[in-house]
Amino acid sequence: MIMRLFIILAFSTLTVLLGAGFSDEESKFYSNDDRQALLALKSQVSENKRGALASWNHSIPLCKWKGVTCGHKHKRVTGLDLGGLKLDGIISPSIGNLSFLRSLNLEDNFFSGTIPEEVGMLFRLQQLNMSYNTLEGVIPTSLYNCSRLVVLDLTLNRLGHRLPLEIGSLSNLKLLLLSKNNISGKFPISIGNLTSLSTLSVLDNHIEGKVPDTIGKLTHLIKLQISANNLSGVFPSVIYNLSSLESLAIAANRFSGNLRPDFGYKLTKLEKLHLGGNSFSGDVPKTISNISALTHLELSQNLFTGNIPVSFGALHNLQYLGLAQNSLGNNLVGDLEFLSALVNCTHLQMLDVGYNRLGGELPIHVANLSNELANIYLGGNLITGSIPHNIENLINLQSLGLENNMLTGRIPTSLAKISGLISLYLNSNRMSGEIPSDIGNMTRLEYLNLFNNSFQGSIPPSLGNCRFLLYLRMGSNRLTVVYLKSSCNVSLLSTCTC
Ligand SMILES: *[C@@H]1O[C@H](CO)[C@@H](O)[C@H](O)[C@H]1NC(C)=O
Ligand SMILES: *[C@@H]1O[C@H](CO)[C@@H](O)[C@H](O)[C@H]1NC(C)=O
Ligand SMILES: *[C@@H]1O[C@H](CO)[C@@H](O)[C@H](O)[C@H]1NC(C)=O
Ligand SMILES: *[C@@H]1O[C@H](CO)[C@@H](O)[C@H](O)[C@H]1NC(C)=O
Ligand SMILES: *[C@@H]1O[C@H](CO)[C@@H](O)[C@H](O)[C@H]1NC(C)=O
Ligand SMILES: *[C@@H]1O[C@H](CO)[C@@H](O)[C@H](O)[C@H]1NC(C)=O
Ligand SMILES: *[C@@H]1O[C@H](CO)[C@@H](O)[C@H](O)[C@H]1NC(C)=O
Ligand SMILES: *[C@@H]1O[C@H](CO)[C@@H](O)[C@H](O)[C@H]1NC(C)=O
Ligand SMILES: *[C@@H]1O[C@H](CO)[C@@H](O)[C@H](O)[C@H]1NC(C)=O
Ligand SMILES: *[C@@H]1O[C@H](CO)[C@@H](O)[C@H](O)[C@H]1NC(C)=O
Ligand SMILES: *[C@@H]1O[C@H](CO)[C@@H](O)[C@H](O)[C@H]1NC(C)=O
Ligand SMILES: *[C@@H]1O[C@H](CO)[C@@H](O)[C@H](O)[C@H]1NC(C)=O
Repeated sequence: MIMRLFIILAFSTLTVLLGAGFSDEESKFYSNDDRQALLALKSQVSENKRGALASWNHSIPLCKWKGVTCGHKHKRVTGLDLGGLKLDGIISPSIGNLSFLRSLNLEDNFFSGTIPEEVGMLFRLQQLNMSYNTLEGVIPTSLYNCSRLVVLDLTLNRLGHRLPLEIGSLSNLKLLLLSKNNISGKFPISIGNLTSLSTLSVLDNHIEGKVPDTIGKLTHLIKLQISANNLSGVFPSVIYNLSSLESLAIAANRFSGNLRPDFGYKLTKLEKLHLGGNSFSGDVPKTISNISALTHLELSQNLFTGNIPVSFGALHNLQYLGLAQNSLGNNLVGDLEFLSALVNCTHLQMLDVGYNRLGGELPIHVANLSNELANIYLGGNLITGSIPHNIENLINLQSLGLENNMLTGRIPTSLAKISGLISLYLNSNRMSGEIPSDIGNMTRLEYLNLFNNSFQGSIPPSLGNCRFLLYLRMGSNRLTVVYLKSSCNVSLLSTCTC
């Protein structure tokens, strides 16, 4: 008790000494500029949305206004957080008068117009988040004067034009998040000056040209996300030096060339690797299997050849494996050996190796894959054999795509035990036998394609239980034609060729 009293006394003495103990009257005086600036900001918010800022009035002390944080010493506005208030209108240039501002959050509103140049006057600014608005025009060059910025998040706006050289002056920046805008032109070489960066995210813009070598200087980079732009050239060799990377996303660009065989010995900390939708060719590096933390591996839609490494089975944390639409496999017996090896990837949820040149028999081990698997896509290959009876082990399966192969045999009745199955594609194979009436047990089924096989008998009326069926194709078989819609309680069914 005595101790506490002492502290209180000591504290109040200190505040008096420092002259920081303003009365309400005084603080009103000291923050007059801030008050004016905020009221000007409010006046630019459209009238019907201003209600969210009702507390911004003269009967409430400034520092208690919604979203406003003041410094302890000077009672100046140091933080403004208007995130998610659904405000619209424009951002008033008066914001530049909040000269003590360190943190500005306008995220998730409907602000339009441009980012006022006056933001560049906020030289104390460390955090700026204007993501999820509809801001357009150029990112004002003055903003690059805010050299104390640590976070710059402008994700999802309509900001355009190229990134200028001046961006290199933000030497304290850790997070640069500009995804989902309309940024064009090349990366400025000065991007290499941002040596504190841990995340560079410019997904889904129109940036073109090569990735500058200076990016190799960003040795603290943990996330490099530049997918969905128009970048070209070989896999930038400097990226192999960014050994701290945990997430590398360069998908959906125009990159080409081979990956180095020692890939996995260089980027050893990767958890997510997205290279899909480029023109990479050559072998998939076997050393990727040494990246033990890898959870997401997406290499689809490239020109990779050779085998899918059996060593991928060593990736025990793998959840997502996407290798579709390449030229993997050689229509040989061993092509699917990797499938058996993947049984040790007990967290696998998504396996997509469709539309390659994989041959050989569907291994019975496919049913021993992780029971967390939700999606298996093996369609568009040269796979023989039949669906194993123990397929029911994959009890959490939602999509099974085996179409456009050379599969034979029946649909195993046990398949119907996978009650959560939503999509089943078996079209264009050589499967035969009757369609088990148990198929109607899969009541969640939305897409069922059995087209172009040799199924016989009749279409089971139990299909009428599949109340969510949207797409049903059964033609080009030897089925007895029945008018299914009458037995179906299916108002949803949009495509039905039986
Ligand atoms: C901002 O500051 C400038 C210069 O001090 C002043 O002329 C202007 O009126 C201020 N604007 C607002 C809205 O406070
Ligand atoms: C000022 O804001 C407070 C809190 O939102 C509100 O209760 C009060 O009615 C407002 N006063 C005026 C004059 O708008
Ligand atoms: C910025 O705001 C968005 C939307 O609220 C949020 O998701 C994001 O994490 C924020 N950015 C940073 C760097 O905190
Ligand atoms: C930004 O800095 C440049 C010089 O580096 C200066 O000319 C300009 O006036 C500054 N802009 C703002 C808005 O402070
Ligand atoms: C980037 O760094 C180089 C050398 O470190 C320096 O000469 C240059 O002025 C910097 N550029 C910017 C825009 O900060
Ligand atoms: C994106 O920028 C281009 C010019 O680079 C422009 O023609 C286009 O209208 C912009 N799109 C949007 C949505 O702002
Ligand atoms: C990508 O860049 C090339 C030229 O380098 C251009 O022809 C093409 O239109 C660009 N594509 C997009 C989607 O911007
Ligand atoms: C990459 O690292 C190697 C070895 O550490 C070094 O020799 C090389 O100069 C670096 N390359 C770049 C572009 O930084
Ligand atoms: C890389 O992984 C392979 C196959 O899992 C293993 O045989 C090899 O020893 C590993 N190499 C290193 C350097 O860890
Ligand atoms: C799976 O792991 C077990 C135990 O670690 C091991 O004995 C087996 O060889 C592995 N199987 C495959 C296909 O890698
Ligand atoms: C595969 O699963 C079956 C049960 O369906 C089991 O009998 C068999 O031992 C499993 N095989 C492996 C290699 O785990
Ligand atoms: C399908 O449901 C019927 C009736 O509940 C049941 O007798 C049958 O065993 C089920 N089939 C499968 C494969 O689970």
